[in-house]
Amino acid sequence: MSTTTDSRRRILVLHGPNLNLTGRREPDIYGTTTLAEIDTALRAIGTANGADLTIVQSNHEGALIDAMHTAMDGGLDGILINAGGLSHTSVALRDAVAAAGVPAVEVHLSNVAVREEFRRVSVLGAVCVGGVYGFGAESYRLGLLALLHTLEANATR
Ligand code: DQA
Repeated sequence: MSTTTDSRRRILVLHGPNLNLTGRREPDIYGTTTLAEIDTALRAIGTANGADLTIVQSNHEGALIDAMHTAMDGGLDGILINAGGLSHTSVALRDAVAAAGVPAVEVHLSNVAVREEFRRVSVLGAVCVGGVYGFGAESYRLGLLALLHTLEANATR
C-alpha cells in the first residue's frame, strides 16, 4: 500500500548505465559530483516542492523498464531520466517512457549536442516534454524543476 497522499507528486528518477560511477568517471566530461550527492539534491527539491522521489540506478535496460512498470502500478506523475548510453539506442526504453503516459524530462550531465555524432541523437527525446543537458549535476536539478513546473501547469490547465 502506498503511504503517499494524493496531493504529493510521485516522481521516478532513473539513472542508466555507468551513472553509478558519476564523480569519478571521466570527471572532465561528467564532473566530480557523485550520484549520491545528485540524489540528495534532488530529494531536497522534492521535499521543498511536495514531491516524493523514487530513485533507481541500473546498468541494465530491463531493470530500468521494470522500475517504470513498478512505478506505474504504484501511481506515477512524472519521470526524470538520464538513460546514459541507452538514450541513443534503446527503443524499448523509449516505449516504456511512452507507455508510462506521464510527463518525462530527459537530462544529461554533458552537452551531448557537441560530442560524438552518435550522442547527438536521443531516441527518448520524442517521448519527453523536454530535456536539459550540458550543465553537469545542475542538469538534474534544472530538469526536476522543469518537470515539477510542467506537472503544476498541467494541473491548473
Ligand atoms: C550521458 C551522456 C551519454 O552519451 C553517455 O553515454 C552517458 C552519460 C550524460 O549524462 O552526459 O553515459 O547520459
